[in-house]
Amino acid sequence: MLQKINILINEISTISVKTSEELELFRLKYLSKKGILSDLFEDFRNVPVAEKKEVGQKLNQLKQNALDKYNILKSELVLSEDVNEGFDLSRPAYPYSTGSRHPISIVRNEITEIFSRIGFTVSEGPEIEDDDHVFTKLNFAPEHPARDMQDTFYISRISAEDSSPDDILLRTHTSSVQVRVMQNQKPPIRTISPGRVFRNEAISARAHCIFHQVEGLYIDENVSFADLKQTLLFFAREMFGKDTKIRLRPSYFPFTEPSAEMDVSCRICGGKGCNVCKYTGWLEILGCGMVHPNVLDACNIESNKYTGFAFGMGIERLAMLKYQINDLRLYFENDIRFLDQFKTAF
Ligand code: DAH
Repeated sequence: MLQKINILINEISTISVKTSEELELFRLKYLSKKGILSDLFEDFRNVPVAEKKEVGQKLNQLKQNALDKYNILKSELVLSEDVNEGFDLSRPAYPYSTGSRHPISIVRNEITEIFSRIGFTVSEGPEIEDDDHVFTKLNFAPEHPARDMQDTFYISRISAEDSSPDDILLRTHTSSVQVRVMQNQKPPIRTISPGRVFRNEAISARAHCIFHQVEGLYIDENVSFADLKQTLLFFAREMFGKDTKIRLRPSYFPFTEPSAEMDVSCRICGGKGCNVCKYTGWLEILGCGMVHPNVLDACNIESNKYTGFAFGMGIERLAMLKYQINDLRLYFENDIRFLDQFKTAF
């Protein structure tokens, strides 16, 4: 019997289990009422008195070993199951990625928010437009080069030679939304229109065939150029900081008269001159002017009663200045390494 017990002690020490079923088999084989140990204790009664002490000790050792082994196997199993199911409570948490807004959205929201503080609503118009809203009603002459195929993505053209107000195209600017708003609302009108625009340009660091603009429009009685200038000064200071200066340079747009382009003092060098402002101290950010009477008339707004101003700016350009981004293509590639940098902005 002693020999049998010794063999069992050895056997138990080498056992390992992989599943709870195997663990249960171990328990049934050695420790249950019908198991080997139970049998051995039964047999122990028949051991001669002289051997009882020695065999008894061995038997108790076997029992203890079997119990210890059972407990060890059980705890190892629990541990490995926990790890498999991701329940290791001591393990550091997985990094949780929150994503970020696109810089174009961040800047668009900022612009909308600034103008909403001075009473501008937001209006939207279609990206697929007709020539009438994009050009004709905005006082573009029929032969104006902006209508050219080189610039405009046409979807359908009435005639191959001449442009027609019915031609269908992708809008080249958000000024088309001005027309829609004026056709549908009576003054006073105070609205901005952010949106996507399309131009047939070769893609480079400085040009893209898709980009974003925000159009602004204010129509009422007695709106003056001074109102335009003050509104834009307010915007520039909210957007770029309270020490920002602006300057207006005469320019030309078919839909405004007089027209101007607006520069803001360079926020990188504070106007002293640097490579971002090309050593001029100024950065061009938008076009603007007083709405041309022809445009008001074309949209059924009495030009002898009402005046108004309009402005338009490129969101990519503003975001480039704000975040010092030097390649337009980065906005459209959606490279996570680029987008991740805007996590703290909102
Ligand atoms: N639509 C012009 C463009 O795409 C920008 C612009 C200039 C809009 C002057 C205006 C404006 O409303 O008054 O370049």
